[in-house]
Amino acid sequence: MFRSATVLLALLFASAGLGNAAKRLAQIDHVDQADIRGSASVSVSVSASVLPSGFSRCLFYDDFSQPSGHLPDPSKWQVDLGTAYPGGGPEHWGTGEIQTYTGDAANLRVTREGTLKITPVRDGRNKTWTSSRIETTADWDFACPRGHRMRVEARIRLGGNPGPVSMGIWPAFWVLGSGYRANYSAWPAVGEVDILESVNGEARVWQTVHCGTSPGGACNEPSGRGHVSDGAERASWHTFAWEVDRRRWPLGLGSESMAWLVDGETRWTFREADLHGDEAWHAVVANSKMVLLNVAVGGALPNAIAGFDTPTNRTRGGDGAAMEVDYVAVYSSWL
Ligand SMILES: *[C@@H]1O[C@H](CO)[C@@H](O)[C@H](O)[C@H]1NC(C)=O
Ligand SMILES: *[C@@H]1O[C@H](CO)[C@@H](O)[C@H](O)[C@H]1NC(C)=O
Ligand SMILES: *[C@@H]1O[C@H](CO)[C@@H](O)[C@H](O)[C@H]1NC(C)=O
Repeated sequence: MFRSATVLLALLFASAGLGNAAKRLAQIDHVDQADIRGSASVSVSVSASVLPSGFSRCLFYDDFSQPSGHLPDPSKWQVDLGTAYPGGGPEHWGTGEIQTYTGDAANLRVTREGTLKITPVRDGRNKTWTSSRIETTADWDFACPRGHRMRVEARIRLGGNPGPVSMGIWPAFWVLGSGYRANYSAWPAVGEVDILESVNGEARVWQTVHCGTSPGGACNEPSGRGHVSDGAERASWHTFAWEVDRRRWPLGLGSESMAWLVDGETRWTFREADLHGDEAWHAVVANSKMVLLNVAVGGALPNAIAGFDTPTNRTRGGDGAAMEVDYVAVYSSWL
């Protein structure tokens, strides 16, 4: 629905130059709602979705319609490489996944159709796997202030390989507290929200919150508090979104909540009252965040769902195992 009417939006940089501060202030608004505060502005026309009802600002937007080069725009995305963050990140990205992340075109590329494709690839000779993982750069960290709503959304198509040859393939669209960058011991305290996870070629969607302390804690780590539902058929496009509502009606006394949506339909709602831990809740809803997109191979979640170690000898990489992303957006309300 959001894509049905295409409008011209302007990307407005609200202060002189294109430095970090300016980027952080960058907003995409309807042209007729343009709000130029700085002394200089750069206006970039992008063809984008109509803002969803109830949202009036765009804190981040990429529809991968850039002209050339296989990598996503480096001013927006950092490509994570190897098997851990440099300088002390947990091995195998903390999940037991077995692939090595690269920035190679075989694993990561912007397509001619203006989408981003992340493709796991198996090396036939030595049976190792490569894939890709990207995260928004620190310039684009976003947060939902008290009294506001925020929505993180992406339109995604998962590869259509059937289950038996997809064991261990684990695509994900998620947000993580950006404080993690400075402290690899801060998980899960920084808060993690999985907006789409799907494993082993299933059409099921896993949507999860991680918070507090591990093991145990307010979010029952390391599993997290989550919800599983059907309806993310492979090889077709779906819109996955996570919304935070920090308005407290009435009179500032009500409860904050968050909701996960697939194709505009709410799949799961999680309220402040569902989480017995004010600090943990606050971290998840209010902390500064980044968006991540990756396709892992193997690891705790696909292994647990399969009931055996993944990937298997039959697991195939390539297009049928890929995750294709049409756009990623972060919207917020003025009020
Ligand atoms: C496996 O194959 C890849 C790609 O050919 C190569 O880069 C890597 O070094 C190989 N690993 C081993 C352990 O041989
Ligand atoms: C990193 O995060 C952990 C968990 O929140 C905390 O206990 C620790 O003090 C933090 N370390 C630093 C250097 O901030
Ligand atoms: C996978 O293939 C290897 C080598 O062909 C074989 O030794 C191993 O038993 C196979 N594993 C399974 C689970 O079939």
